[in-house]
Amino acid sequence: MSKQPLPPHDKQRTLTGITTTGTPHLGNYVGAIRPAIEASQQADNVSFYFLADYHAMIKSQDPDKIHQSSQEIAATWLALGLDVDNAIFYRQSDIPEIPELCWFLTCMAAKGLMNRAHAYKAAVQANQEANEDPDYGVTMGLYSYPVLMAADILMFNANNVPVGKDQIQHVEMARDIASRFNHHFGEHFTLPQAVVDDNVAVLQGLDGRKMSKSYNNTIPLFLPEKKLKKHINKIKTNLLEPGEPKDPDTSTVFQIWQAFASEEQTAQMRQAFLDGIAWGEAKKQLFELINNEIGDAREQYYSLLEKPEYIEEVLQNGAQKARAYSQPLLANLRHAVGIRSFQG
Ligand code: TRP
Repeated sequence: MSKQPLPPHDKQRTLTGITTTGTPHLGNYVGAIRPAIEASQQADNVSFYFLADYHAMIKSQDPDKIHQSSQEIAATWLALGLDVDNAIFYRQSDIPEIPELCWFLTCMAAKGLMNRAHAYKAAVQANQEANEDPDYGVTMGLYSYPVLMAADILMFNANNVPVGKDQIQHVEMARDIASRFNHHFGEHFTLPQAVVDDNVAVLQGLDGRKMSKSYNNTIPLFLPEKKLKKHINKIKTNLLEPGEPKDPDTSTVFQIWQAFASEEQTAQMRQAFLDGIAWGEAKKQLFELINNEIGDAREQYYSLLEKPEYIEEVLQNGAQKARAYSQPLLANLRHAVGIRSFQG
């Protein structure tokens, strides 16, 4: 088979994946989902957003959790208004070209490069500290996870990959692997770059550390109203009384406020802190601010969860659009590496 025509690469391509092991929280919303949905509205850009369910298997052996999380994450993005006519929204496991490309890239990835991956190194270090064998509990999935991520990115020749700081290394590894492939087999891959937006807030959690599943300090995004209020009331504060001036810049309540407020509202709350607003009052206002921003989407979210067939249909459409990119590229790659039909 001769070279397959690829879709035109006339616009910048932005791609990011969300691992399906958990329920989206306010930190995910502010740090990833909200900016991604905004970016997908730009006409000079094609956005690829996907549910990274193969990645979920690395972290979780709980089938129900992976399944439920995939559904919740899909419903979340749709409820928040992701325009699926504009963005390509799909499930990683619906694109069979990805695992195939993953193998091609595995044969290009230096083992020494994988030895340096943070996720693997952290696991080894934890084992050493616990006096275990260094590779105790380390699967090949965890070890070669950056290769799968490279396949996700290179499959669509993404230019820009918006990620958190912890993922920059993986995007650099994707570049490295792509260059090596190009060197051996011709210029098939665009070299991607990580995009870390410093203007996007890294939200603090209930205990003041970064909001993260692994710290168990999150506020889930679509909690029913009463529970949202309860969670917000649990945000750690100090013991200053009403009337005593409070420092906005060391306060989690203020930090979260800022992520949802207009500039004017932020200035007002800063003044209220200096004037000694009571913690209870500040939290009540924070609840109202957040609830206003996400209230309608929450309703939409619960109604989407009742319509799994609809979510499935949206994802199947997305997969079809995504495969218009992945199929011809993979056909060319197979040809390039020497995996070809004998019939010419
Ligand atoms: N590994 C990423 C994370 O844990 C998720 C992910 C998988 C991803 N594949 C990707 C992100 C490709 C960007 C591009 O957050």
